[in-house]
Amino acid sequence: MSEVTTAEFNEEGKYLRKIRSFVLREGRLTKGQAQAIETQWPTMGLDYSPTPLDLAEVFGREADTVLEIGFGMGASLVQMAQEAPELNFIGIEVHKPGVGSCLSDAAAAGVTNLRVYHHDAMEVLEHAIADGSLTRVQLFFPDPWHKKRHHKRRIVQAEFAELIRRKLKIGGVFHMATDWENYSEHMLEVMNVASGYKNQSVDGTVVPRPDHRPLTKFEARGHRLGHGVWDLMFERIA
Ligand SMILES: C[S@@+](CC[C@H](N)C(=O)[O-])C[C@H]1O[C@@H](n2cnc3c(N)ncnc32)[C@H](O)[C@@H]1O
Repeated sequence: MSEVTTAEFNEEGKYLRKIRSFVLREGRLTKGQAQAIETQWPTMGLDYSPTPLDLAEVFGREADTVLEIGFGMGASLVQMAQEAPELNFIGIEVHKPGVGSCLSDAAAAGVTNLRVYHHDAMEVLEHAIADGSLTRVQLFFPDPWHKKRHHKRRIVQAEFAELIRRKLKIGGVFHMATDWENYSEHMLEVMNVASGYKNQSVDGTVVPRPDHRPLTKFEARGHRLGHGVWDLMFERIA
């Protein structure tokens, strides 16, 4: 496993500090997470390299591919991979304990259609994923960056929308979910004016949770407390 970001320098050799959507707080790995990384990385781990992946080679078959950004501990990603064996899944997460948990759950579930990056999703998308190759991109409960002065760190921005559009096939879908209403409004503002997309909602706002997105424990608890969750789905049309 390499570093989660690649350092960039300007022409004078000065380090370029980028605005990132995450702050790395590397908590300790549990024994189980460390063991899962050691045993499962050779089969499920993808080492970052800035050249486009050959998906047919990686998965050993031709199938539609779903990519998830920031899968956290990976519980819903593993469930989705298990429930849709006909699809390929690629998960990307910078938090190493999350990668360990995901690999551990995936091994326990016996899924074979999941591969994982421990790297910054922006770099992976930019360099390791071929244009027009994805059937769906998922972004579930991204860090909300509540404070106004931190809004620039929110991953959903015009440039990001364009990057995702390029990676999707025509007809492919960018699916976002958030439990923070202000972030759902921000997502709508960005996505409703992004060119080449069609909002799949009938009224130009949000969609009901599709069956393929599992209801997490956290979300089920939120429902009982009357908290909202907003799903947004945008199809690439050009
Ligand atoms: C609030 S958590 C949500 C996790 C998970 N999707 C869930 O619903 O439980 C957001 C996750 O996104 C990850 N993340 C943020 N920016 C990222 C990036 N650029 N590349 C990869 N992972 C990222 C964070 O490490 C964190 O685990």
